[in-house]
Amino acid sequence: MKTEKSAKFFDRAMKVLVEGCSSASRGPLNYSPHPSYFKKGQGARLWDVDDNEFIDWQLSFGCLPLGHAHPKIVEVIREQVENGTHFATALEIEVEVAEMMVAMLGHVDKVRFANTGTEACMTAVRMARGITGKRKVLKFEGHYHGWYDGLLVSSNPQPVTTLGHPNDPVRIPDSSGLTPGSWEDTLVSVWNDIDALERILKIRGHEIACVMMEGAMSNMGVIPAKDGYLKQVQELCRKYDVLFYLDETVTGFRVAPGGAAELYGLQPDIVTYGKALGQGFPVAAIAGPDHIMESIEYGKVLHYGSHNAPRLGLYAVKAMLEEMTKDDNAGFRKITEIGEQMTTRLNAAARDAGQNMRVQNIGSMFHPVFTDLEEITGYRDFCASVDLGKYAAFAAGMREEGVFFTGNKILHNLSCTAHTQEDIDVSIAAATKVLHEMPK
Ligand SMILES: Cc1ncc(COP(=O)(O)O)c(C=O)c1O
Repeated sequence: MKTEKSAKFFDRAMKVLVEGCSSASRGPLNYSPHPSYFKKGQGARLWDVDDNEFIDWQLSFGCLPLGHAHPKIVEVIREQVENGTHFATALEIEVEVAEMMVAMLGHVDKVRFANTGTEACMTAVRMARGITGKRKVLKFEGHYHGWYDGLLVSSNPQPVTTLGHPNDPVRIPDSSGLTPGSWEDTLVSVWNDIDALERILKIRGHEIACVMMEGAMSNMGVIPAKDGYLKQVQELCRKYDVLFYLDETVTGFRVAPGGAAELYGLQPDIVTYGKALGQGFPVAAIAGPDHIMESIEYGKVLHYGSHNAPRLGLYAVKAMLEEMTKDDNAGFRKITEIGEQMTTRLNAAARDAGQNMRVQNIGSMFHPVFTDLEEITGYRDFCASVDLGKYAAFAAGMREEGVFFTGNKILHNLSCTAHTQEDIDVSIAAATKVLHEMPK
């Protein structure tokens, strides 16, 4: 792999950009000794400034169900940019896209557009508090809901000895600069354990505005919910009169046309979307039934934003939804099949090479972790047993072979409709080689 030009960019970047880029996960923390700088994406391929070509399985952290520069997206953006970029007015396209979303999402009557998952999550929590008049929100260890102060607690892997008793997890702030008051009302529980949830709801349900969780734990590799768990969570929320808020920033418009809510047959009170929704544009949404969504009418719970409902992004959403749902949701089926195939074949490659790599997935989202456990079912398993350094070495080896696996050790990899059978075969051949060369 040639790196001369990227190395030069990195030298320049370090003079003007913190860590040489715009988010720690893209920089030297995950790409040692320096990141590659990229210039072009097409289909499932990426090219860096040294003209290295990669099969992309990172796909902008899940923002690209159709891959890069899909012809329909290019066409509609070219056409629409001539009519203006952003108006900050009511838009015809926002009505059309909201209608499409409501038609796809059985649990949603209304939608409000924002830009990022972080803003959407922040708004959802504010709505839950406004609606219920209760102050606390309950989140789960290892679940990430963006970088808003109030939710930036216990989202990173930590040594297990710092986590406390599972009945009363130690709340660990993920950043300096957070005042204790900002997360005082954020309670933390263990996920995938229904008894743990009932225990806390019994004691504190009267104070809790919402229970919030990702549709699958997707910022600790990929950890699916246990059979029936999410349904039971919903039942407990109803029983203890607490809103059930499902953060589908990752799972929405990915694990099924209607996201995790459809996959698991749920009727969450509040849902948030981002990532895949925008097909590479910053579009997020807060959604739910009428009686919930009316809370953000003017004068009740505030939600503003100069860039809300970004016009060009919404044209991309429309084109993405049309492409993914045509032929009876063939796009969703395709990314799921590719994710399943990658998972099965990577697991087989690891077994053949005698490596303790396990790949867990939920449809198109998959992630290899190096662990001696047969299965990772929760955050504490992940913290106790996963060798992040080995994943970093594996992903670096894959990139040397022209296969871009995310350098972010706790995120996951994803498929898109542009991946071909050849892309899969080449990626598996690369994994086989890398796994055989890696020390055990
Ligand atoms: C489940 C979940 N919620 C919210 C967010 C925040 O989204 P964004 O990065 O668009 O602010 C993320 C981002 O990774 C996420 O995974």
